[in-house]
Amino acid sequence: MSIHNQAKKGDIAKTVLLPGDPLRAKFIADNFLEDTVCYNEVRGMLGYTGYYNGQQVSVQGTGMGMPSMSIYATELIEEYDCEQLIRIGSCGSIQPEVQLRDIILAQGACTDNGMNQLRFGGLQFAPLADFDLLHRAYTIARGKDVNLHVGNVLSSDFFYNDEHIGDPFAVWQKFNVLAVEMETAALYTIAAKYKKRALSILTVSDHIPEGKSTTSEQRQTTFTQMMDIALKLV
Ligand code: ADE
Repeated sequence: MSIHNQAKKGDIAKTVLLPGDPLRAKFIADNFLEDTVCYNEVRGMLGYTGYYNGQQVSVQGTGMGMPSMSIYATELIEEYDCEQLIRIGSCGSIQPEVQLRDIILAQGACTDNGMNQLRFGGLQFAPLADFDLLHRAYTIARGKDVNLHVGNVLSSDFFYNDEHIGDPFAVWQKFNVLAVEMETAALYTIAAKYKKRALSILTVSDHIPEGKSTTSEQRQTTFTQMMDIALKLV
């Protein structure tokens, strides 16, 4: 048991898929995995272990934002010896060529969050995806009918921005950051700390400058495409 997880050692697979929404974890367990067992209900942050094509895999909700992601990623690695953490999430595009329903493999993650400033004493750390996972995901996704992008994302602490700041994404957009989400920089930093593998696979659910969003039906289709990639990495 860890502080936020009631699973016993051995209950959680080496590879863990990480949706932000715990009900997404339940949906994945119910619809994509076999022989599933729910190992965690602490704080409603559901976690399941099951099998995909005979391979054991877990799926654990992380909540939103970098403190929450940091808690779950740290405990999965420290307490449960997990080796491979794969975030499956959504993001808002800030580039014209990255459109609704496209899929992004986050090669790196910038952040406006303060944790790494404290951790690295004001110096800059570059949170990166595991190259092997990224390469494999890229190869799998290229064989599918998806609009794929590989590049930098921004893991932001802001979902709602204050008007007085102006456009908080303008500088990131200028430096070719593809999209905004809220967790990847923390995941990649913690994976690096423990020399474990991590990758974020993101579907584009909204286009921030263009003010566009996907319908729930479109979100379901792209979610299935993302799962097809993620599950092949197990
Ligand atoms: N996830 C999906 N859309 C987002 C947005 N606009 N900002 C942050 N995270 C997101």
